[in-house]
Amino acid sequence: MGLGSGSGCIARIRPLPRTAVEVVSEAVAEKQSPWRIRDESFAAVPRRLKQALGELIGAAVEEVILGNSTTYGLNLLAQGLPLEAGDEILLVEGDFPATVYPWLPLRERGVRVRRLRPPGGALTAEALAAELTPATRALCSSWAFSFSGVTIDLATIGEVCREHGVWFLVNGSQAVGARPIDLGALPVDALVSCGFKWLCGPYATGFAWIRPELRESLTYRQAYWLTHQLATFGDFDRAGEYELGHVGAAAYDVFCTANFFNFSAWTASVKLLIEAGIERVSAHDQTLVQQLIDGLDEGTYELLSPRHSPARSTLVYVTHRQRDLNESVHRQLERAGIDIALRDGNLRFSPHLYNTAEDIDRALDLLPAIPRPARRPR
Ligand SMILES: Cc1ncc(COP(=O)(O)O)c(C=O)c1O
Repeated sequence: MGLGSGSGCIARIRPLPRTAVEVVSEAVAEKQSPWRIRDESFAAVPRRLKQALGELIGAAVEEVILGNSTTYGLNLLAQGLPLEAGDEILLVEGDFPATVYPWLPLRERGVRVRRLRPPGGALTAEALAAELTPATRALCSSWAFSFSGVTIDLATIGEVCREHGVWFLVNGSQAVGARPIDLGALPVDALVSCGFKWLCGPYATGFAWIRPELRESLTYRQAYWLTHQLATFGDFDRAGEYELGHVGAAAYDVFCTANFFNFSAWTASVKLLIEAGIERVSAHDQTLVQQLIDGLDEGTYELLSPRHSPARSTLVYVTHRQRDLNESVHRQLERAGIDIALRDGNLRFSPHLYNTAEDIDRALDLLPAIPRPARRPR
């Protein structure tokens, strides 16, 4: 398929594409000569980003909320959902901390935060159905799990949530950009994601999408002057006029939408994914994952993440059968210019569109060359 250009980065931090680097360089140059920044850019730059994200996830441009992280979107939900003492939020044991922390302060209000321990560690529709109680108001879960590489089935889990009047809130940070999603066709009530992983954006980026009916029920309100003045007057230099406009989802955008460096660079990255075709990107990534799994010397290494789709993601977890050697394997690959992640003591490979079959071959070739513990003299 040849999507990749080749990279030793098969790890947690995705490189910024060249087109994004060019765009951000231009944005930096404009800030060096700020008279070049046009007033229209204050509305156009965030809108272009929303358009690209909306196209990628199957949502209307007006419904995309710009954040600065995954946590930003989850926090909007945790603070805004109409929850009362006695209500229950379900999370999944072992989920990434970003999915968990935003809910913890709700305990002060008497909201119960319960972590499910599904059999085998992977949440299924059946396991969820068995856990729901009359107090359950929401399930918040990652789509792809950072520490296990497991992907959950949004369609069947969302269906159970819908049947029981439970909101289904999804953290897509480890999947959006690596696989297609169409929010118009899924029983998902909210999707949040960071921008710096599979979406190849800069740090301090993220988005949220909240189903309009749910968004309108949020009890948390915030108001940003620029959003409201642009919506009400079409410009933003009115002194003495402070009308709250009807701005819909934009009311929840992170403050300072004139984030020219990050937003313009991230737009370029998202457009690159769209132009490559997210189905093609997903197929390319999965081909590399398959190559990695097929090439693994399973006498020496054990595959910990799912071997097959649909539970398989683009996060491939492997451990040396002598687990205490993982750290030195990681260091060895690093020295050879192959950047993988060491997570919870295990080795994690996460190939993406810039990687090639040669990158995977190189990593596999290096894997058996593990420094063995020195033999004790007899
Ligand atoms: C599943 C998941 N969610 C979220 C994040 C990051 O959270 P935030 O964007 O809030 O920093 C990560 C990793 O950094 C992750 O793996």
